[in-house]
Amino acid sequence: MSEILISPGRVTGETRVQGAKNSVLPVMAAALLVRGEVVLRGCPALADVDSAVHILRHLGCAVRREADTLCIDASGISDYAIPDDLMRRMRSSVIFLGAILARTGQARMTYPGGCELGPRPIDMHLDALRRLGAHIDEEGGRIFARAESLRGAEIPLRFPSVGATENALIAACAAEGTTTIRNAAREPEIADLVRFLRAVGCRVTGENTAVLTVEGGMPSHGTQYRVIADRIAAGTYLCAAAATGGSVLLHDVETAHLATLCGALTEAGCEIGMEERRISLRAPEKLRAPGMIVTRPYPGFPTDLQAPLMAALLRIDGSAVFDETIFRDRYRHAAELAKMGADIVCEGSRAIVCGVPALHGARVTATDLRGGAALVIAALSAGGDSVIAEAEHIDRGYEDITGVFARLGVRVQRIGGT
Ligand code: EPZ
Repeated sequence: MSEILISPGRVTGETRVQGAKNSVLPVMAAALLVRGEVVLRGCPALADVDSAVHILRHLGCAVRREADTLCIDASGISDYAIPDDLMRRMRSSVIFLGAILARTGQARMTYPGGCELGPRPIDMHLDALRRLGAHIDEEGGRIFARAESLRGAEIPLRFPSVGATENALIAACAAEGTTTIRNAAREPEIADLVRFLRAVGCRVTGENTAVLTVEGGMPSHGTQYRVIADRIAAGTYLCAAAATGGSVLLHDVETAHLATLCGALTEAGCEIGMEERRISLRAPEKLRAPGMIVTRPYPGFPTDLQAPLMAALLRIDGSAVFDETIFRDRYRHAAELAKMGADIVCEGSRAIVCGVPALHGARVTATDLRGGAALVIAALSAGGDSVIAEAEHIDRGYEDITGVFARLGVRVQRIGGT
């Protein structure tokens, strides 16, 4: 259990943005396909990346970390099961399913089950793998997949699931023949995975569109690859500056990936500047309400920034409306924000934030990664110190949060745990 103490202050200064967690994880899974060394740069030091390293090592891969670089050699893979504790530690471990199956002919893991964001079904992942020729048994919360060989297939997804697209893509690279994934996710992290797969010799086209085509069965080789910047971490720091009347300059950002957030923050009264790989934000003393925020698959407004933006808007003039269409239960931070004096009413997929004149410091609990980040943002804009319990949720996605905020002129201190 870890706790952080937050003293309010204006978020002002410059920092670089970490590599994208949600790119590194699927790329680490895809490295299982490669017989040769994969040198992966830009890997943030995060609990989820550590969990993925544990999974790779458990499977028999050699993994070395040097600063932000991971060197992965999957030549010696000797296992096909992910232990239950690693599945529990990181529910998105399911992105290893297609890769393990493709490489070893079988895969065993527990069902990720329900989690902080509501139910996390994996029916589309399993359907995609079955279409590629896998036999999958599900029993007592366990999944056992096997396939002597995989063959190319048509994979229509009923929703552009990020994880299902990743699993299908990775497995299709090892299948004989052509695979077409329709209604594929278009998140930037998918395009990053496609670029990595091409770098190791796979033939994949169609990134940034809803149709991905894979010519499978190509021999793969080692490579050096740098993952893209983390748009959600960058967006979180922009929201923190917006919430506190601050001013920030972020380096190493993919500016195009932040278009919808920047649109909302501009409507709220922030001045935003973008130049190649840099983004600046200057916030007014008081934000105004932007139009309704509806979370959608990319290029829509990202569900992962719903909570951070909500936290930035707690003291607006008037009210802001959110509609969360991606995850069913992603407003658990609202009750914690209310402990700081926020006025939020949640009804089904909608949340209405009525601006309050001020927030006060409080003892709150992080309910999930992005909800935890929202608590940090609200605490920075409150009238007194706050303590956030179960801050380990936040460490799953934000590298060196105390250091980053120190560079941005505010105090986020660890007071317990790791
Ligand atoms: C990825 O999760 C991200 N995780 C999430 O970020 C992000 O919130 C999400 O995409 C949406 O952008 C990683 O990349 C590791 P989905 P994923 O499959 O792949 C339903 C963070 O904070 N669905 O696109 O699990 C599902 O229930 C994390 O960094 C099915 O019904 O998301 C949800 O309602 C949290 N059946 C919707 O689709 C399936 O088989 C979108 O989920 C799969 C998904």
